[in-house]
Amino acid sequence: MYDVKVERTSAPKQKPLDESKLGFGTIFTDHMLMIEYDKGQGWHDARIVPYGPIAMDPAAMCLHYGQEIFEGMKAYRGDDGSVYLFRPQENFKRLNSSCERMCIPQMDEELLLESLKMLVELDSGWIPAAKDSSLYIRPFIIATEPKLGVKSSDSYLYMVLLSPSGPYYPSGLDPVKIYVEQSYVRSVRGGTGMVKTGGNYAAALKAQDEAHEQDYSQVLWLDGVERKYIEEVGAMNMFFVLGDEVVTPALLGSILPGITRKSVIEMLRSWGMKVSERRISIDEVAEAYKNGQLKEAFGTGTAAVISPVGELKHGDLVMTINGGKIGPVSQRLYDALTAIQWGRAEDPFGWRV
Ligand code: COI
Repeated sequence: MYDVKVERTSAPKQKPLDESKLGFGTIFTDHMLMIEYDKGQGWHDARIVPYGPIAMDPAAMCLHYGQEIFEGMKAYRGDDGSVYLFRPQENFKRLNSSCERMCIPQMDEELLLESLKMLVELDSGWIPAAKDSSLYIRPFIIATEPKLGVKSSDSYLYMVLLSPSGPYYPSGLDPVKIYVEQSYVRSVRGGTGMVKTGGNYAAALKAQDEAHEQDYSQVLWLDGVERKYIEEVGAMNMFFVLGDEVVTPALLGSILPGITRKSVIEMLRSWGMKVSERRISIDEVAEAYKNGQLKEAFGTGTAAVISPVGELKHGDLVMTINGGKIGPVSQRLYDALTAIQWGRAEDPFGWRV
């Protein structure tokens, strides 16, 4: 049993009155989790405290050099009232691999899971029940040593915030429009694209803003070297149904190893479908489109779940996929995955906690 102190709030907040209008990541629950690290002492002082601002030295290294990492996961309220997490061990494993890349000390994954369960249980009254809504969980670590010299920090703060949320895209399951980014790149092998650190997302904002100006939801990143191979969409990994093959970019060190991505691959294979993790160029996708073989495209992510892509633009070529509607593979995956997550179906994979 881990020692996690609990200080309950004396002023519980008003919970959202209309769960159909939650949006994503703007409302926070009554409590948050904190664990501190100091060199010599290791990780210590795990505690759950009332949600609120934190005091931080303005010289804290995370504010200057971006030494930070985060995770994204969800808690679901099942129809029977039970609360479920989806493969949380995978998130904590990935958290440690992000820590490794970003020079942050490793954490005890058992402590992370046990303390998360305590926090979610304490604030379980905040888990929304409305369709497609859940409690988004945001664990993160920031470097807190006050110092302007560039080096890895000697102190850190791990925190978890909980946010009752609806779908990531306001359009929900309606297909999104994305375009292939041709000016900017997100990451290269050897960089940090395969870990969850804020800098990856900051570097992508310019492209995202330009996409929004043109009425597109996101951009599809190409590899940073040849500018030819498909990478990911920042908030999601990508899948293409080409004829009877489902293809997703291989994990070669510059894209995020998504847990939904991994689950979708396992699920498709369990259905006897052919799934390839390989390099896939944008030219191959365009060729498949012209030949009528590009049946579906969809993104996967914790926040995004399964997000069908209805339009993919590459230069002058506008590919309208499956008539701009969700396709059968995307729909089947969405139904099967969410049924497991919400406890509405058997869980043959043992993913639910
Ligand atoms: C997630 O899917 O949990 C993410 O972290 C993506 C995004 C909201 C940044």
